[in-house]
Amino acid sequence: MTSVFLIDSAAPLTADAVVVATVCTDDGVALADGAAGVDAALGGVLLEALRAVEATGKADEAIKIPTLGKSATPLVVAAGLGVAAPDTLEPEAVRRAVGTALRGLQSAKRVAVAIGSGTDPQLVQAIADGALLGGYRFTRYKPSAEPNALRRVDIAVTKPADAGAKAAIRRSRIIIEAVNNTRDLVNTPANHLNPVTFAAYARERGEAAGLRVEVLDERALKRGRFGAILAVGGGSRTPPRLVRLSHTPAGARASVALVGKGITFDSGGLDLKQSGMGDMKSDMAGAAAVIESIIAAARLKLPIAITATVPMAENAVSGSSYRPSDILVMRDGRTVEIDNTDAEGRLILADAILRACEDSPDYLIETATLTGGQVVALGNGTSGVMGTDALRDRVVALGTAAGESLWPMPMPPRLRSVLDSPVADVVNLPKDRSASMLVGATFLKDFVPEGLEWVHVDIAGPAFLHSASGYNGQGGTGVIVRTILASLIDLAAG
Ligand code: BES
Ligand code: MN
Ligand code: ZN
Repeated sequence: MTSVFLIDSAAPLTADAVVVATVCTDDGVALADGAAGVDAALGGVLLEALRAVEATGKADEAIKIPTLGKSATPLVVAAGLGVAAPDTLEPEAVRRAVGTALRGLQSAKRVAVAIGSGTDPQLVQAIADGALLGGYRFTRYKPSAEPNALRRVDIAVTKPADAGAKAAIRRSRIIIEAVNNTRDLVNTPANHLNPVTFAAYARERGEAAGLRVEVLDERALKRGRFGAILAVGGGSRTPPRLVRLSHTPAGARASVALVGKGITFDSGGLDLKQSGMGDMKSDMAGAAAVIESIIAAARLKLPIAITATVPMAENAVSGSSYRPSDILVMRDGRTVEIDNTDAEGRLILADAILRACEDSPDYLIETATLTGGQVVALGNGTSGVMGTDALRDRVVALGTAAGESLWPMPMPPRLRSVLDSPVADVVNLPKDRSASMLVGATFLKDFVPEGLEWVHVDIAGPAFLHSASGYNGQGGTGVIVRTILASLIDLAAG
């Protein structure tokens, strides 16, 4: 684990590498605020050196300049913020730049960041976030790979004792640990992470964080009439689970239900996937995000009651798989016709939402790698957000401010009719595949009590990347943890 410290920006630096920021101007690359001390230690040649190696200051650029014995720090990494004035630092640009710089370092143990945050808590948090996100590596199954060398990050600020800056570091440490744990879970393949081992992980981590933990096994699921979780998980050698984690502080201001899709592998079931199956170890990214978020919320001691209800199943192929044309009986007795066994997420989510809402929460926040339609509409950078208007817009605004990209999506009421079934209350997938992200949300809406403020975040694209960018490497991104925590922090504030 990497530690983060605040150091005095006026004092000399000792580190294996120091990160400064650059901007892209009409006259070419320029140094951003905070780099002056580093430049002075090199005799004022830093900008000249950057020009010589054709630096531009564009976003996602991280240029390494060796200091050749001229300074106590052997390496300067100049990370681009993109087009901006040198003294107007935008938090997400800083987070990305620092993340890109740290992702490019392999053996540095101690890294200093000299970006002029003053003591602005938002910027200090963005620097810490970027460093901890960019320093992440997934090497659990590759012991031959370079282990993560990064031990310590020093953030240069004008007043290291500043209470706001210190609080920002503490928040960042807890939140980014949750993001990185989510990345680990998403990156862990399905032969190591199945519903049983995933539930055991949630129990162990939840109990260690002081949460109340309940794990429903297949017998408890049968007693509880969780027809969809049992059907979707029925084809796997590893039976399904429903995990419930609760944070119940005294004097809680409000109560929030979290629900996340936990398909540990999505083969499609009998409607076997024709492409993209290899990515489907990531189909539990929503589950991982809500589990890690509630643990972080407990560590942050948020004064709201939170319960995470997390269905876990493997959508597998066998003689006990559920079939197209099956009619499932849900937790509340409602029936669902199966048109396609690959639309499995909404089924387990419906059972979980029904259970979560039996506790009468004030808010429901649910997230899932639900539809290919999300990827088509918004790509792998932006999550789609649906639900009741006020909570949807609030979550979009809070998540955006936390540095995640989200966009509100509609749920036109007339879409409900495409889910009408001749033989059941609802069908899991219409014949017409248009607007599939919105149809997925519309299916879920049927299971949310009238009048409850709720939000559904489709993270199918952003949860898992094929190529690195900014503070994200290839693989699991840990997306939506920062949005969920920003939302919980805001709801806790009243
Ligand atoms: N897990 C997938 C959605 C998904 C797609 C996640 C791409 C991440 C990346 C979901 O269960 C699914 O299979 N959806 C299909 C349904 C349809 C083909 C039956 C979809 O939306 O394409
Ligand atoms: Mn599927
Ligand atoms: Zn799926």
